[in-house]
Amino acid sequence: MQAAVKAVLPEADAASVLVRPCPDPKFGDYQSNALMALARSRKLNPRQLAADVLARLDVREWCEPVEIAGAGFLNFRLKPEALLRTLSAAAAGEHLFFEKTGAPRTIVIDFSSPNVAKPMHVGHIRSTILGDSLARALRLLGHRVITDNHIGDWGTQFGMLIVGWKTSLDRAALEADPLAEMERIYKLISGRCDPDKPGFDAATLDRARAELVRLQSGDPENRAIWREMIRLSESQFETIYRRLGVQFDYTLGESYYHDRLQAVVDELMRRGIAVESRGAKAVLSDGSLEPKDDPFLIHREGEWVPNPFIIQKQDGGFNYATTDLATLLHRLENWRADEIIYVTDGRQQLHFRQLFATFRRWHPEAPVKLAHVWFGSILGDDGKPFKTRSGENVRLAELLDEAEERALQVVTSKSPDLPESVRRDIARVVGIGAVKYADLLPNRQSDYVFSWDKMLALTGNTAPYLQYAYTRIRSIFRKGSVDPAALGAPPAALPLTAPEELALAKHLLNFGLVLEAVGEEYRPNFLCNYLYDLAGRFTAFYENCPVLNAEPGRREARLLLCDLTARVLQQGLKVLGIETLEQM
Ligand code: ARG
Repeated sequence: MQAAVKAVLPEADAASVLVRPCPDPKFGDYQSNALMALARSRKLNPRQLAADVLARLDVREWCEPVEIAGAGFLNFRLKPEALLRTLSAAAAGEHLFFEKTGAPRTIVIDFSSPNVAKPMHVGHIRSTILGDSLARALRLLGHRVITDNHIGDWGTQFGMLIVGWKTSLDRAALEADPLAEMERIYKLISGRCDPDKPGFDAATLDRARAELVRLQSGDPENRAIWREMIRLSESQFETIYRRLGVQFDYTLGESYYHDRLQAVVDELMRRGIAVESRGAKAVLSDGSLEPKDDPFLIHREGEWVPNPFIIQKQDGGFNYATTDLATLLHRLENWRADEIIYVTDGRQQLHFRQLFATFRRWHPEAPVKLAHVWFGSILGDDGKPFKTRSGENVRLAELLDEAEERALQVVTSKSPDLPESVRRDIARVVGIGAVKYADLLPNRQSDYVFSWDKMLALTGNTAPYLQYAYTRIRSIFRKGSVDPAALGAPPAALPLTAPEELALAKHLLNFGLVLEAVGEEYRPNFLCNYLYDLAGRFTAFYENCPVLNAEPGRREARLLLCDLTARVLQQGLKVLGIETLEQM
């Protein structure tokens, strides 16, 4: 299609010409509306342009004669033999309805990134689950993906933590639950360091500052305490990652960049990109952008006023922004990143807009694509941020425990006869899968209400439903004693005819388009909805088309559809980081 457009309109941007699955099967299987926009901007008659492009388009091998519809839509209908050919190639293991990219890129994904000495809470779950799924999708499509956990292991909190460690540490509590104890001492001391809090104590604040300076200047005792805090935190994070099946290629925390921060500030000052601003050093608007698009301006009381991006504080300290600039450079220079994806909550939008804009001024030529993939909050039943009954942040570890516990109840009520160890194993896969899916399904930018009952339901758009659909297909093979690996190609003379067969088969063909959309728009929810639709089409097929009892020939074609559906379900869930089971 793009070649045909190029032949008719050599100067057109053919990459924008897309053929998409048709929303309404009445009109065809695929559709393109791209010609109407091309015609409009050139003042051409759209139906005439469509006819000209069609004259250059040879898709006879794949499609019935293409139709021009409405104001210039092109509607494509797949030939049944083309459909069968694609299914057979998939059956033979040549593809699973997607192609690896011909132009692999190096993509760095910065996600999870919890802070040391603080327990990971549900806020971090979204970054971890979303980032992991994007990494899986982009890897499957053939890109070189580098995952990097940018943990918060440096900064002013360590002054307070060290004071707490030296004066109030409960060793036994630290042993039992290191993150909880570190959080306790942090809260204790930070309460005394905040002039707005009733417990404020100027001497503690001074001491915290002094301990921070000693840490930063390499004092061996403070360094050792700091390292111990990192070690304890990382091993707790690791436990969670293992449960979630998440792996990182690198864990380069903020401290890794510490020695490079001064050079970053010096260079930005020398180049005039950063300037002195009220004793601090900051990047300000250079006036090159419209105020509404300029992240260095903010609208206040009817006026646009400066919104500086501070890279060195008045006291000479560096901050989150400085570290992120150094990190960005490192990823370009050492990893040759073509694209960097940052997965954090929506509250950091301004930070990343300022970071990217600063970087563009610093390295205007760098071809890297920078993306902030942000997400909304998880809410409780009351519509407020999800908390425990006593108002604390919900710990990720406890949330996963509860998911497995509740899944065990579901499994036990369905299959009480399975041995407990088997039920526990199933519950782990179902419980963790349910939490992940509930997090990936909503549009990531909207807040969603956390509901155990909804996410663990065996019906509706949930992980257990999809996992169950998978086990049902597998049981067909068990029941018929058929080995899916030994299925031959279906006879070419037997086209699929039942509407439910066709609907299912055509949906399988769209798997690749969906994966690409996930990778391009950073939205795993497209895949969730695709899989849900796939499971629904499978049910309709299975209810209307006998499989094991079908006549020879037809039986093979239908078994093939079953097997391919199972494979796409399994592969799709895997991209979401969700495991499948043989029985539930
Ligand atoms: N540690 C940060 C937080 O918990 C997230 C870091 C995200 N990555 C980055 N390069 N800034 O909010």
